[in-house]
Amino acid sequence: MQNLDETTITQAVIARHANTADQRLKTVMTCLVRHLHCFAREVDLTEVEWAAGLEFLTAVGHACSPTRQEFILLSDTLGLSTLVAAQNHRKPVGCTEATVFGPFHVEGAPERALGTDVANGAEGEPCFVRGSIRGLAGEPVAGAVIEIWQADARGLYDVQYEPFDEHRARATLRSAADGGYHFLSIVATPYPIPHDGPVGQLLDALGRHPWRPAHLHFRISAPGYETLVTHVFRAGDPYLDSDAVFGVRSSLVVDWVRHEAGLAPNGQLLDIPFSTLDFDFVLNPTHQG
Ligand code: BEZ
Ligand code: FE
Repeated sequence: MQNLDETTITQAVIARHANTADQRLKTVMTCLVRHLHCFAREVDLTEVEWAAGLEFLTAVGHACSPTRQEFILLSDTLGLSTLVAAQNHRKPVGCTEATVFGPFHVEGAPERALGTDVANGAEGEPCFVRGSIRGLAGEPVAGAVIEIWQADARGLYDVQYEPFDEHRARATLRSAADGGYHFLSIVATPYPIPHDGPVGQLLDALGRHPWRPAHLHFRISAPGYETLVTHVFRAGDPYLDSDAVFGVRSSLVVDWVRHEAGLAPNGQLLDIPFSTLDFDFVLNPTHQG
């Protein structure tokens, strides 16, 4: 095909996909080309602007490393992660809502016994977390794998420290026979997503801040239930309505109750203030009846 112009180029590219064996790939790439071309037409994209776009994407790639995923940050800050999570986790009313995964999960965090201080030296005020894991009909889910991770009082995850030699404020637990769980960690505080790279520059240029409201991450998996990736947020946080990555669901916002020094839920007498956080999770069964 020759003499393609701005009115015929899109169809020509799509026609070139005719022999794609993988039908899903064909659908996705055809739609992507259509929307990319539509975008360029709609904004009347200049060559200088597209060169800047390519330079930006190159910088995003260069910013990636085994401990930094700038493309996830880009997807998160553009709201794409929240959109994809929402359309992949439509759940019946009553189930705990999912939210973004983020770039700081680590596979294979050490398994700890219920009640353990998973902070493991991470800086922050103590927080006793407890609750239950249940199915939609109220049945306790025993032995659910509960992965938790959070930032410390400086707003940093353990993996952001050099070297990352120990798991801190991060662990894997298993729910008890009655579906209950409890552990000791630290109070979450708001923190900015990494913004010293190209995504941070883009946020700046758009007049946006990089802050996330305080939260504790959970991934909960159990046979027969949809895996739940979610956070629990702190009521009263100043960034609940302007989360840099659009992850807040009001059903996940709860009071983290602060207590003066004294008797803690684990029977310890603490000489510093501490908080308690209670949250019950409801998993979506993968099969009904
Ligand atoms: C997080 O909550 O860990 C996170 C999510 C999205 C982007 C950056 C961090
Ligand atoms: Fe986080």
